[in-house]
Amino acid sequence: MSDRMQGKVALVTGAASRPGLGSAIGERLAEAGAVVALSDIDVSGAEEVAADIMGNGGQASGHRHDVSSQDDWDNVIAAVLARHGRLDVLVNNAGILEIADISDDNANDALLNQFNVNVAGSYYGTRAAVAVMREAGGGSIINLSSVAGLVGFRGSAAYSASKGAVKLFSKSVALETARDNIRVNTVHPGIIETNMQRAAVGDNEAHYEAIAESIPAGRLGQPRDIANCVLFLASDESTYVTGAEFVVDGGYTAQ
Ligand SMILES: NC(=O)c1ccc[n+]([C@@H]2O[C@H](COP(=O)([O-])OP(=O)(O)OC[C@H]3O[C@@H](n4cnc5c(N)ncnc54)[C@H](O)[C@@H]3O)[C@@H](O)[C@H]2O)c1
Repeated sequence: MSDRMQGKVALVTGAASRPGLGSAIGERLAEAGAVVALSDIDVSGAEEVAADIMGNGGQASGHRHDVSSQDDWDNVIAAVLARHGRLDVLVNNAGILEIADISDDNANDALLNQFNVNVAGSYYGTRAAVAVMREAGGGSIINLSSVAGLVGFRGSAAYSASKGAVKLFSKSVALETARDNIRVNTVHPGIIETNMQRAAVGDNEAHYEAIAESIPAGRLGQPRDIANCVLFLASDESTYVTGAEFVVDGGYTAQ
């Protein structure tokens, strides 16, 4: 345990998946002393991650939450304030990936599904957190975009569009809230070993080796690589950082 997040309450969405970025972020923030509220559409998964954090001496709670529902946002924010008394940090991590080429039959469905969760979900959350943080005198909002929000990938036109949208709405909100001591930044993970990545790549070991070879660092990222960056943005070590994008990709997009 450290004290980098002592006294702060953080809500992390999409925190049930293991290995996943949300659970790793929740664990990292809790290790640094934060009280963490973990939400997911998979409530039992979120509760299990919260129980493990508490088993390790941290403070955590689990919440049922579909981020694409405004009603759910109202309920979860109210529950976090009732249970933990404040909200200093929101990590909009919940997201979905649906691979579809532009000519595929499911391309339009993929667009709407990913915009509902990745864009509307993060946007509703940002809006809800800004209201609470303005009242409280400040806070930090961290939105998970992707390297796919910076460069193109085949089969990911709709996903890329959604992650590009997250990047740019975050910058706009950062401008609107900077004088309120609210910071809004995006994190752009590269290819990280999580359930989302496993679902996309499958169990094909040779494919994983080819991916690792294509990354300058020579390996896929681990969830903790992302969690460490989120911790910096959540903490008071980054009080002069807002409207910025943080690429954590082992050099992938530097090529
Ligand atoms: N893993 C990667 O390589 C990678 C790369 C770039 C960006 N990202 C982004 O990071 C975030 C986390 O990715 P991950 O790899 O941990 O994914 P994951 O699929 O392992 O976990 C995502 C979690 O979000 C939850 N979720 C899905 N829809 C939801 C909804 N409507 N409401 C609430 N929860 C919902 C899922 O139940 C799951 O627990 C996502 O936004 C993803 O787009 C991941």
